[in-house]
Amino acid sequence: MVKIDNIQLPDFPLLLAPMEDVSDPPFRAVCKANGADLMYTEFISSEGLIRDAIKSRQKLDIFENERPIGIQIFGGDEEAMALAAKIVDTTQPDLVDINFGCPVKKVVTKGAGAAVLKDVDLMVRLTKAVVKSTTLPVTVKTRLGWDADTINIEDVAERLQDVGIKALSIHGRTRCQLYKGSADWNPIAKVKENPRIKIPIFGNGDIDAPEKAVLYKNTYGVDGVMIGRAAIGYPWIFNEIKHYIKTGEHLPPPTIQQRVEVIRQHLHRSVEWKGLKPGINEMRRHYTNYLKGLPNIKEFRLRLVTITEVEQIDEVLREIVKFYDGFQFTPRKVEMDTLAYSCD
Ligand SMILES: Cc1cc2nc3c(=O)[nH]c(=O)nc-3n(C[C@H](O)[C@H](O)[C@H](O)COP(=O)(O)O)c2cc1C
Repeated sequence: MVKIDNIQLPDFPLLLAPMEDVSDPPFRAVCKANGADLMYTEFISSEGLIRDAIKSRQKLDIFENERPIGIQIFGGDEEAMALAAKIVDTTQPDLVDINFGCPVKKVVTKGAGAAVLKDVDLMVRLTKAVVKSTTLPVTVKTRLGWDADTINIEDVAERLQDVGIKALSIHGRTRCQLYKGSADWNPIAKVKENPRIKIPIFGNGDIDAPEKAVLYKNTYGVDGVMIGRAAIGYPWIFNEIKHYIKTGEHLPPPTIQQRVEVIRQHLHRSVEWKGLKPGINEMRRHYTNYLKGLPNIKEFRLRLVTITEVEQIDEVLREIVKFYDGFQFTPRKVEMDTLAYSCD
């Protein structure tokens, strides 16, 4: 069993990574239903929260059946981070996570996200400010360092543990790497091997198949893994990994019926949460990912992204099930590069 403060997680927990514009409540609901053990909101700007920006506040929405759930905040100013942590407290998630890893320009140029990797003293002060302002356990998600010459994750891990964080998730890339190349988990293993480190260490980067999760578990000794891109359009990844760890065997790929059922749940949750029109619109970007691998899906997909009534979408989904009934899905090949989000 893995513990983050008082939060009990199963052995080798699988975490859903925070993902901007992706890990909202409807997406989280389908990941939870398919085996995610701990989930996070997308990152929320501390400055936005303080200004009461409606968009930032909506990102605080969490639901009982999502627990345990963490709310992720970012920012480069101690006072703003402390205030944001207090606001997060009022919504009572299970934990607060600080983002020190986001590489996107709009965040880094404000001295937040991965920019803080260049100034570990500031990172420590920001973390302290958050820890002092909340009664919730605080966790951090970060990268290996700013660039290949300044990989400082071992020092960062010790210093953040010393100021009270309760778990650390490490994406095995530097800021300068953005999403290029492959994640390097060796520095993550070094953090885990450090006898001074007592908090759970979660590895992140490029986990896209059960074998890889098991290989990385055994090779790098992490306490659990965090999965991002591979869960987009494929929330089954969580249960597939769990099953493989338990039995050494693969679950069969989800059938067309199972896929469409998850699309339906995602859509209905999206409409419930966002309202009819925005809910339908937001769902449109997910169809391609869910329906990947199906031949001649273009026409169905075109209808799904132009229709404006839930009943009509349900009807197209019924047609898809009928048309592809019995279709043999091959284990998927994840194109991680095409899923990486734009960094500049
Ligand atoms: C679309 C997208 C949005 C992301 N948004 C966030 C975010 O809000 N906070 C964060 O800490 N990381 C964010 N990330 C990074 C992921 O959490 C994760 O670290 C990264 O994708 C590597 O994991 P993966 O290889 O399993 O995808 C985002 C990644 C993607 C692809």
